Amino acid sequence: MHKPLAGQIALVTGASSGIGSGVAAALADAGAHVAINYNYNYHSHAEPAEKLAAAITAKGGEAFALGADVSDEAQVDAMFDAVVKRYGTVDIVVANSGLQKDAKFTALTLADWRIVIETNLTGQFLTARRAVREFERRGPRNVSKALGKIICMSSVHEVIPWAGHVNYAASKGGIQMMMKSLAQEVAPQRIRVNGIAPGAIRTPINQDTRDTREKLDRLLRLIPYGRVGEVEDIGRAAVWLASDESDYVVGTTLFVDGGMTLYPGFADNG
Ligand code: NAI
Ligand code: BGC
Repeated sequence: MHKPLAGQIALVTGASSGIGSGVAAALADAGAHVAINYNYNYHSHAEPAEKLAAAITAKGGEAFALGADVSDEAQVDAMFDAVVKRYGTVDIVVANSGLQKDAKFTALTLADWRIVIETNLTGQFLTARRAVREFERRGPRNVSKALGKIICMSSVHEVIPWAGHVNYAASKGGIQMMMKSLAQEVAPQRIRVNGIAPGAIRTPINQDTRDTREKLDRLLRLIPYGRVGEVEDIGRAAVWLASDESDYVVGTTLFVDGGMTLYPGFADNG
């Protein structure tokens, strides 16, 4: 099997569940050694991360699980220190951790505004900043054309407004411009920063949108391609964006959404 990421080290945040787990597994299948982050504050998340690391190792890959809250600067630093200690450096960083705290705007609490912005946006800032510092510290390495690659997990809601989810959509809109501005700043150092904008992917974050036939039908009306996405769809996109196959792709958001951003409401109307 072709291993486009052989010899490279990857760190995936929020990889104890959903998309992060799928991305970590796909990067490992592509030959990368993978550090699997889970949220240190929720001990229940250690177990799935450790199970994933064990499954990767059982298949002949290399991985380990490590806890850190990405919204905490000291914990992000400690997370990178642990990866560098174990593997020497990092080549691919997927800033994926994220959560939703949904509410009608007038009922949205400051606490729920803050936790979403701090996890989704500040968490990606802290993760990407430390990634760039690490790429600069270790300098060129003979494993990739780029000095390093950062993938920011965004969402279709970086462009699709989302009533009842103002905090979340604001965080993803912020990620879009953070990603692009950072990409512009570090491209001269041959650091590639890109985003992935998933549509509706089957994970715990949106379980409630699929738990009855009626809700699923309503969701499917938003997806021209006619199916909910799977974490493997995002894993394959991440492998490509992390590999030299996408070496000239810089500062782009790759939408992996079954056409959700195609304004499906206009398909038979207007
Ligand atoms: P999930 O709930 O299954 O996974 C979220 C992960 O983030 C978990 O591993 C959780 O432990 C971690 N996390 C939360 N707070 C954290 C913190 N402070 N520090 C470290 N890790 C933390 O949800 P899912 O769907 O896998 O979400 C992953 C990313 O994909 C998120 O950024 C989400 O916004 C994004 N996304 C998800 C879509 C979907 O349809 N599932 C669509 C578009 C984007
Ligand atoms: C959200 C999911 C939602 C998807 C499509 C994601 O960013 O986290 O809950 O299903 O966008 O609307």
